[in-house]
Amino acid sequence: MARSPDRSRSEAAGWRSRLAAAELVWAATAKGSDLETAMAASGAFRRLEGADRGFARAMASAALRGMGRIDWALGGMVQRPLTDIETPVLALLRVGAAQLWLLNVAEHAAVSATVEAAAKWDAARRGGGLINAVLRRAAREAEAFVSAPVEAVWPDWLAAKLKSALGPARAEALAQLQLEEPSVDLTVRDAADAVDWADRLGGELLPNGSIRLASAAGLADLPGYAEGAWWVQDAAASLPAMLLGDIAGRDVADLCAAPGGKAMQLASRGARLSAVEISAQRMERLRENVARTGLQMDLVQADARSWRPAGPLDAVLLDAPCSALGIVRRHPEGVWRRDPKDLARFPAIQQALVAAAADMLKPGGRLVYAVCTPATEEGRDIVDAAVASGVWRRAPIRAGEIPGFACALTSQGDVLTAPAAAETEAPQTRSDVFYIARLERN
Ligand SMILES: C[S@@+](CC[C@H](N)C(=O)[O-])C[C@H]1O[C@@H](n2cnc3c(N)ncnc32)[C@H](O)[C@@H]1O
Repeated sequence: MARSPDRSRSEAAGWRSRLAAAELVWAATAKGSDLETAMAASGAFRRLEGADRGFARAMASAALRGMGRIDWALGGMVQRPLTDIETPVLALLRVGAAQLWLLNVAEHAAVSATVEAAAKWDAARRGGGLINAVLRRAAREAEAFVSAPVEAVWPDWLAAKLKSALGPARAEALAQLQLEEPSVDLTVRDAADAVDWADRLGGELLPNGSIRLASAAGLADLPGYAEGAWWVQDAAASLPAMLLGDIAGRDVADLCAAPGGKAMQLASRGARLSAVEISAQRMERLRENVARTGLQMDLVQADARSWRPAGPLDAVLLDAPCSALGIVRRHPEGVWRRDPKDLARFPAIQQALVAAAADMLKPGGRLVYAVCTPATEEGRDIVDAAVASGVWRRAPIRAGEIPGFACALTSQGDVLTAPAAAETEAPQTRSDVFYIARLERN
């Protein structure tokens, strides 16, 4: 944690970028907006350009990713409960703390520019003295943040759930990962070209064939984007489609297809693909992605629980709707307003979709089941029940099929990607959490 100040960030834009970042944090926390929507709506943010805009986004994102832990530490530095502080002032405090504790911005720049931002924001003007005093103390007492429990980045119910699904060490490693800016992985349409694209884009070629970029800035302007030579897809998210084996010329359905990363993988590997998606709005995103890449597939807007193909299928990919607890680091603002009771509805939908897949497949046909959550009731329990029903048998996944992710194999031959503190160099330590199982129709 003890790092020297980042000069480029220390000298970066003054109060305007801090004000924009605080507006974003305020919109996400006080108004329940997600970060993307907040960026589109914030005048202060939209008036920024280039590096200033990138810096504002980085500050807001760090403040939201680290919010639980920041609040924990700030709580000991303010004489009243944080909930009693005006929400714009609290947003500036969080942005200030994120600069000091997560982004390594030098004290003089972080404090003075954040205090100045308060002076420019009517709703926060009266909080300048408090912000100045608390951030000066925060700069001296970074230990308060370092010693806050890492899992405090999440609400208590989520920390408990992730601990029970992953064990304390991996849950802590996942919380640590959330504090970092998520890297961006790409999947290349023509797998044979991955080395060339890694070179052209200056990315790191991962063992599974994904290309990891250091930053998401200007993605749509990079070579290859417009012609659909690659798409954004976390390395762990690229595994399920690879586990259906040789699908060239085979009849395959992707039952929950939008926005389409996995469907495009299946189509690029030669499947005769039906891409089924219930939501018209999300289907539109799939349509755009398919048009950009020029890949062939039938787009079917339907409820996969009742849709049936014209004839029996060779393989089905079921990337089921789920609680998405394994990708919280990408939308950290959402979990603070989420009601954990809302998660109870997923297992019934997942079971119904597995039953529908059984109806579609030939005997011996393969189902790859995936969810982006480690919650056992949405992953292993669903698959164990399917096997116990006698309709399915497990087709265990082998280490050689998931290059770089061998540590994610479970004793049953399923995959659970999750960071592990002891394996910091392996790619799965920096990927989203996916549970994946492969079944065969009896
Ligand atoms: C986890 S996302 C799929 C991501 C996608 N496979 C990809 O790789 O880009 C789940 C999708 O399933 C869709 N969905 C949910 N219930 C469905 C149903 N009953 N039938 C078809 N699609 C459904 C959701 O609208 C959502 O787009």
